[in-house]
Amino acid sequence: MKKVIAALSSLVIGSSLVSCGSSSSNSESAPETKVSNTDKTIGIAMPTQNLERWNNDGEYLKKQFEDAGYNVILTYSDNDATKQNNDIVGLIADDVDLLLIAAVEGDKLASTLEGAVEKGISVVAYDRLIMDTDAVTYYISFDNSAVGKLQGNFVRDSLDLDNAEGPFNIEFIGGDDGDNNAKYFFSGAYDSLLEYIESGKLVIKSGRDEFEKIATKDWSSENAKNNMEATLKAHYSDGSQLDVALCSNDSTALGVAQAIESSYSGSNKVIITGQDGDIENLRNIVDGKQSMTVYKNVNDEAAVAFEVCRKLLDGEVPAASLVDTLPVEVTYDTGSYNNGKKYIQSYLLTPYVITKDNLQLLVETGLYKWDGEKKYLEAAK
Ligand code: BGC
Repeated sequence: MKKVIAALSSLVIGSSLVSCGSSSSNSESAPETKVSNTDKTIGIAMPTQNLERWNNDGEYLKKQFEDAGYNVILTYSDNDATKQNNDIVGLIADDVDLLLIAAVEGDKLASTLEGAVEKGISVVAYDRLIMDTDAVTYYISFDNSAVGKLQGNFVRDSLDLDNAEGPFNIEFIGGDDGDNNAKYFFSGAYDSLLEYIESGKLVIKSGRDEFEKIATKDWSSENAKNNMEATLKAHYSDGSQLDVALCSNDSTALGVAQAIESSYSGSNKVIITGQDGDIENLRNIVDGKQSMTVYKNVNDEAAVAFEVCRKLLDGEVPAASLVDTLPVEVTYDTGSYNNGKKYIQSYLLTPYVITKDNLQLLVETGLYKWDGEKKYLEAAK
């Protein structure tokens, strides 16, 4: 099934290359036959180049738009909300035709985006919702609750919670509290395990059972490592066994795996979850230092974002029927993501679980390849 989606996806991307010409905004000799998009410019604001995924998102998005003849200005903001605000002010001053934004902090952009509304610039939220503003028209992301649920279900199945006696000890490690997604990841996971927590089969020794208590500043590996070391020292240095570290994503999982390696005295293998399929984490999965990751194909996410934006730029209104024309399986959702002003029309892609047993699925996306010894995965490009 996924193979079909990936194949379809590359076909569609391929055909858009053919039909739209291959010139980019940087091209010095633009062919005469090029589609008439060159007068339109897309401003893309990504959060940071420090995490693998956002480099991929930026690259895939830029390629999609440039291959279709649009100009692209791509900014990265070092995970700094003030810098991203300034970058977006700059894009608005440059009179871009559309803004596609993955917010550093979703609730810090509302007043900046008033400038976009005044100029009639459409604003589309990419991966992370932008809060408290009417400016946002569409949201393209994965089903964020499903990401957490997949992690929770993985823990349930790995520990055989319906049959095993337990109790088992679990700790939650969440994302940055300025990222609206982080709360969905946590509650998706927490709610899927709630019945076992309530029955006492799963125990949170630290007592940290709310998002505010388990957030990791900037999603950084370093902060996750420090937090985990402190948790181990305070709650597991008496010989208690830590069974699960439910990490919301791969960057936090990386730090947690390091903390467990350096500061955990138990001899059991701790179940560690993740999200994204970062290369370093895939190595850890092969080496048994991480148990799984929830994979989100960001090339597909970029393809969906491109189709939504293209419709908007053509003056059309993307709606439910757009999903039938999209290159990948997408749910059109109008009742899940309220940004404080309104429910945002959302196009949600489907995440799936990767373990050491099905890494080949990633190779089939065309984005990864095996190394020479067919042991670890590397980026295909
Ligand atoms: C994204 C995740 C990513 C995290 C940290 C979230 O908003 O959805 O894929 O791991 O940010 O960058």
